[in-house]
Amino acid sequence: MTAYLNGQFLPLSEARISPLDRGFLYADGIYEVIPVYSRTPFRIDEHLRRLQSSADGIRLPNPHSNDEWRAIILRLIAETEFEDQTLYIQVTRGADIKRDPTFPKGITQTVFLFTAPLIRPTPEQRENGVATITAQDIRWGRCDLKTVALLPNVLMRQLSADAGCTETVMLRDGFLTEGSASNIFVVKDGIILAPPKDHRMLPGITYDMVLELAVRHGARHEVRPISEAELRSADELWITSSTKEVLPISTLDGQPIGHGALAGRPGPVTRQMQAWYSAFRDQVTRGADA
Ligand code: PDD
Repeated sequence: MTAYLNGQFLPLSEARISPLDRGFLYADGIYEVIPVYSRTPFRIDEHLRRLQSSADGIRLPNPHSNDEWRAIILRLIAETEFEDQTLYIQVTRGADIKRDPTFPKGITQTVFLFTAPLIRPTPEQRENGVATITAQDIRWGRCDLKTVALLPNVLMRQLSADAGCTETVMLRDGFLTEGSASNIFVVKDGIILAPPKDHRMLPGITYDMVLELAVRHGARHEVRPISEAELRSADELWITSSTKEVLPISTLDGQPIGHGALAGRPGPVTRQMQAWYSAFRDQVTRGADA
């Protein structure tokens, strides 16, 4: 598997960083995950824009212009054997010669990228949906920044893994925030509901895509705070992320989502959004494997 580290393309197994890297010591860094279909990075401009705002948010100078980023990304994709890939970018404040929390002077950032085969949800998961649980959102006050300080997300995700579920849906002060590694959409009475982008959640690239598709196709939608009661009584729920795409939720804390014959089954609005999303993605990337 090919990687890029500080100016060099090399096999992933040969990439080495210092234990004094501030990413390792302090989680002082940012990252992005870009899906690649048929060797085409999907929504690369949007991902680079979010990388910039994460960098600004932690006062980290961006080491590359967008043209430089694009050149590194495209070469890495070309040198990897897989057609569909997950491309990971991480930038940290670099490796100092001592352990000191204040920003070091005169050291360069660590830039690391690697790409791996894209693991998409299985056809069975896309068709039937996935089980989820809820948990209290215990994270810090800048969840809008995509930093590598992911310990709370790791612990949240493990809760769902322990319960045999695919994702943990988080609630803060009685309102839906997001999943441990995804955004969450609610459907009630045919209206798509999305929590507003603020410091409590990551502004997902797929989240924006879904809202764009809703606008383009005239689907009714509202961006507003969603209470725990609304989440639990939803007609439909779905997860979005760059790797999960639009993935239906079948159960929340063991309770089937939806009512009547459709209880625990993906509903019509979810199905429609999955179809719009796939069609759009295929149009710009010449198609992913079915
Ligand atoms: N995670 N919220 C959180 C906390 C996330 O970690 C992610 C993505 C999202 C969805 O964002 P996007 O649509 O831009 O992928 C929301 C990535 C995939 C990850 O950490 O692997």
